[in-house]
Amino acid sequence: MRVIAIDGPAGSGKSTVARAVAARLGLDYLDTGAMYRAVAFAAIRRNIDPDDTTGVANLARQMDLEIGDAVIVDGVDATIEIRSPEVTRAVSTVAANPAVRAELVARQREWVAARGGAVVEGRDIGSVVFPAAELKVYLTAEDSERASRRTKEMLDLQYDQVAADIARRDHIDSTRAESPLSVAEDAVCIDTTDRGVDAVVRQVLELAGDGQEDPRGA
Ligand code: DC
Repeated sequence: MRVIAIDGPAGSGKSTVARAVAARLGLDYLDTGAMYRAVAFAAIRRNIDPDDTTGVANLARQMDLEIGDAVIVDGVDATIEIRSPEVTRAVSTVAANPAVRAELVARQREWVAARGGAVVEGRDIGSVVFPAAELKVYLTAEDSERASRRTKEMLDLQYDQVAADIARRDHIDSTRAESPLSVAEDAVCIDTTDRGVDAVVRQVLELAGDGQEDPRGA
């Protein structure tokens, strides 16, 4: 089973790079952040407090979640709503819940196994979900660059707000007790600051053994 793990913080370029690499390699693409967002979305919709660890854990186990080009939560298309500021505010709390993580990690492994492999993006893919992935990439970028990229995506938010929100999420994501954001020992780190998407995609493809040219010239 071919698994390529792409981890890194918000705004590091993970989604864009992971999608392009998957398309090029003919693999499916799984955005695990969208799954944590789907749980946060479902909790808000049912008036469950994100801090209610038992309530949110039960919800994660029971909810019906389809993930592909669209994100369908209990039959409702939540593709757009899972990116809302309200969900973004709640998601780090939900992602710090160990029972939610256990449930979603099991679902992620099932999803990938059912498809015979994938390019999987997240925070703990190389370290926890697929420690035997054939390639692990960890993308980073300077804080200010990550905040400006996100500001461009979120038309209704200002840079300062986005930068503060990213800093808050980075802090929660990297200090939580369960699977904090960390770099797998055998991951290749790529700093995407000041680099175009194409160059980063090319580098990842080369690492995956799919360079444009055969390195042996054959
Ligand atoms: O990548 P994103 O911003 O959509 O991720 C949403 C949140 O989910 C973020 O706070 C980190 C968390 N997350 C996680 O803890 N583990 C993953 N594998 C993916 C995302």
